[in-house]
Amino acid sequence: TTDSTRALLLSRIRDVPDYPKQGVLFKDITPLLADPTAFAALTDTLAELCVRHGATKVVGLEARGFILAAPVAVRAGLGFVPVRKAGKLPGATLGQAYDLEYGTAEIEIHAEDLSGDDRIMVIDDVLATGGTAEASLELIRRAGAEVAGVAVLMELGFLPGRARLEQGLRGAPLEVL
Ligand code: PRP
Repeated sequence: TTDSTRALLLSRIRDVPDYPKQGVLFKDITPLLADPTAFAALTDTLAELCVRHGATKVVGLEARGFILAAPVAVRAGLGFVPVRKAGKLPGATLGQAYDLEYGTAEIEIHAEDLSGDDRIMVIDDVLATGGTAEASLELIRRAGAEVAGVAVLMELGFLPGRARLEQGLRGAPLEVL
């Protein structure tokens, strides 16, 4: 990413203090999505990363990851596969539970959407604790596909997301714009 593109993208992310609860600084990407120049620049940048890392499909993580990953898939000429919160996919799914700060969550994928020939780029808006992304890598491998990398718009540097993800990446790149 060039410095000017990164500056444009970061200028369109709104910090919302104490949302959704006290003490949390929420990173709101809706101003970026509403700006066609910024949204196109983000899409192009992520699509270029997919091509560079040899991805054959793009996985988006519900819900904000869908908004970013779908146009990237079209731009890069790749398929899009959603990773959803448990209970939302109608077909035969693989599920993966992961720890949250309090409690656990579960995500699912349609196993038939990935094949042994696929290399997957995972796309999301934010890497926080890394739990969601780490669980998605498990799903991708259990579905028989390879991981091309994980690409996020931003990383909450004060959280151990990068460290948590390191093992699951097995040498694949973590791209933060
Ligand atoms: C947010 C964000 C990432 C995830 C990051 O999604 O969009 O998917 O949390 O957190 P982690 O690194 O600690 O796992 P959220 O669960 O709020 O879902 P939403 O996009 O449906 O609002």
